[in-house]
Amino acid sequence: MILSGKAKLAGVLGWPVGHSRSPRLHGYWLDKLGIDGAYVPLAVQPEDFAAVFRALPKMGFVGANVTVPHKEEALRLVGDNVEPLARRIGAVNTLVVEPDGAIRGLNTDAFGFMQNLLETHPASLGYLNRPAVVLGAGGAARAVVAALVDAGVPQVRLVNRNPQRAEKLAADIGGPITVQSWDRLDLEGGGLLVNTTSLGMTGQPPLDIDLAALPLDAIVNDIVYAPLMTDLLVRAQGRGNPVVDGLGMLLWQAVRGFTLWFGQQPEVTAEMRDFVLSS
Ligand code: ATR
Repeated sequence: MILSGKAKLAGVLGWPVGHSRSPRLHGYWLDKLGIDGAYVPLAVQPEDFAAVFRALPKMGFVGANVTVPHKEEALRLVGDNVEPLARRIGAVNTLVVEPDGAIRGLNTDAFGFMQNLLETHPASLGYLNRPAVVLGAGGAARAVVAALVDAGVPQVRLVNRNPQRAEKLAADIGGPITVQSWDRLDLEGGGLLVNTTSLGMTGQPPLDIDLAALPLDAIVNDIVYAPLMTDLLVRAQGRGNPVVDGLGMLLWQAVRGFTLWFGQQPEVTAEMRDFVLSS
């Protein structure tokens, strides 16, 4: 794509940022939709983040994504100009530059998680009317639990290596969240099991969890996407559970930012999934 002098600019602020798939996926949509715009990786050290953040409107950016380690600092810098959900989650992953140059902060991870789930398994299947089990209490877990509470699940059973972090998550997000311990994790009657820990990711130990008590119709969703089929998903699929991999959440969280920045809603397709993975 050759840019004009009026091209709309966006990017991802992270440190490091070289592993990010966002330039590839936004670039795919810009190309597909023939939009005069660009989405670039911006490697920004923590000590420079505030200055770069403030420069975005001055450089004509329509917005940006924010990734590790800047999401909490981004929440602080947007001040009151933040959607309530992002404040509740405690992190901003998407910035939108408004016409007057103000920067609005959003968190699109909860939307991405839920949309990915609903695209593959409609709510009419009823799994959201049963308890959900969430493994992990990090940044991703906060978005996942907020999405599930807002979707009206009757109970979120939450487990984390560090239990204090799980208690803090439950207090911050609010709703029917029960913190459990790994050795007494209750999978019985669950409609959904979500792994948000880094266990199972390439280079990390596998997730060692006994699935015996999980109903066979419960959906198992691993938000890890490298590898796409984690050991957890292979085992779940082997016993007959429907499974959802983590790539869709990444793609769907990007849809919201792209639509706000570039004014067109992009599509998540199988072709796009293959494209984003092949690099
Ligand atoms: P993210 O933003 O992807 O959620 P994070 O905030 O670093 O990343 O959270 C990582 C999650 O994986 C946490 O729940 C972490 O557990 P702790 O809060 O106890 O650290 C979990 N995790 C990472 N490595 C783990 C391991 N070896 N065993 C159990 N849990 C692990």
